[in-house]
Amino acid sequence: VPVTPTQQTSTLCTLLDISFPVIQDGMGPVSTTRLATAVSNAGGLGTISSLGTTGDPVAKAHMFRKELEDVRSLGCGSFAANIPLGRDANGTLLPVCAAYMDAVIEACSDSDAGTGGLKAVITSAGWVPSITDRLHDVGLVHIQKIGSVSHARKAAANGVDVLIASGSEMGGHTHSHPISTMVLAPQAVDAVEIPVVVSGGIYDARGLAAALAFGAAGVAMGTRFAASRDSDWHPAYAERLVGTGERDDIIFPGYLGPIRGLKSGGTAELARLLHMGVRDEVLSQWKEDRIAAAMVDGDVLGGLLPAGQCASAIHDIIDVGDFLPRMVRDAQALLSRAQGILTS
Ligand SMILES: Cc1cc2nc3c(=O)[nH]c(=O)nc-3n(C[C@H](O)[C@H](O)[C@H](O)COP(=O)(O)O)c2cc1C
Repeated sequence: VPVTPTQQTSTLCTLLDISFPVIQDGMGPVSTTRLATAVSNAGGLGTISSLGTTGDPVAKAHMFRKELEDVRSLGCGSFAANIPLGRDANGTLLPVCAAYMDAVIEACSDSDAGTGGLKAVITSAGWVPSITDRLHDVGLVHIQKIGSVSHARKAAANGVDVLIASGSEMGGHTHSHPISTMVLAPQAVDAVEIPVVVSGGIYDARGLAAALAFGAAGVAMGTRFAASRDSDWHPAYAERLVGTGERDDIIFPGYLGPIRGLKSGGTAELARLLHMGVRDEVLSQWKEDRIAAAMVDGDVLGGLLPAGQCASAIHDIIDVGDFLPRMVRDAQALLSRAQGILTS
C-alpha cells in the first residue's frame, strides 16, 4: 500500500527500513516483545519496552538484552528498543536506565550481524546528549521523545535523527507541562529539519492523516496497540481499555513524573497512601508492581493501568496484521478525499 509521499515520510521509512510510517511506542514496565514482533511483521516499527526503573540493574539489563535477542532471532522486520532516561534527585541517570543502554550497545557491538533487525533506540523521560553519539557509533538511529518545541530544537541540534512529539493526552508517563498533540505537533514540525512523528491520542486513520497534514513523517501509538490480540499482557487489560468511557482517565504521580492512566482501585489506593503521608519517593516499586499486577495478572480493579485519553475512543480489540495496512489505506483515502474539499 503506497503511502502519501511526503519527503519526511520517505526519509523516516528509509531510515528505519519500514513500509508504513507507524511506530508502536514503548510500553513498560512489562515486556512487549510479542506486540513488537507483530507490528514489525506488519510493516511498522515495533518497540521492545524496558522493564521498569527499579530492581537490580544487572538482572534487569540481562532480561532486557534477552528480549532484544528473542525478537532479533525471530527475524521479523525492523524494530526499536525504548529506554526511558530516568534520573535521581541529583540529576544522575538511574543505574537501571544506564544498564539498559549499555545492554543495547553491547548487543550491537557483540553481534556479527551488526544491529540485526534492531534499527533504533527511542529515548524518553529525559535527555542525555552523549547518548546520540554512542548509538550512532554502533549503527543505530536515535529517536527522542519530546513534549515541547524547545526540547525538539535541543535534540535536533544535538544530532538526534527522529523526534516523537508526544502531546499530553498520551498514555503512560506524560510531560510535566502539558501541551496537547494538536498544538505541539505542527510547531515541532516547523522547528526542526529532521522527521517528526506525532504521538498522543492517535488511534485510527484520521490521526495518521492529520499527522501527515501537519507535515509530520508518521505516527506513534501506545494505547491503540495495547488493545490488541497481539499484546503480551493479560487479556483483561485490553478488555478494560475497550470498556473505557470519557473522563475515566486520571493523572497520578508515576516513578518518572506524572502518568496518565485509568481510574482504578489502584489509583484510589495511591491517593490514600499519599494522603496518609507516605513519601512518593518510596513508592516506585509499589507502583511498578501495581502496573505489573494489571498487565501480567489481569488485576484491572486493584492495579494501575497506564492508558491514553484515546482509550475512550477505542471500541475493539485488533489484530495488528489486519489493522496496520487498513489504517494506512484509510488514511490515504481520507487525504485524497480532502484534496477536493477546499477547491470548489
Ligand atoms: C501502558 C503504557 C505503558 C507505557 N510505558 C512507557 C514506557 O515504558 N516508556 C515510554 O517511553 N513511554 C511509555 N508509555 C507512553 C507510550 O510510549 C506513548 O508515548 C503513548 O502511549 C502515546 O500516547 P497514546 O497512548 O495516546 O497512543 C506508555 C504508555 C502506555 C499506554
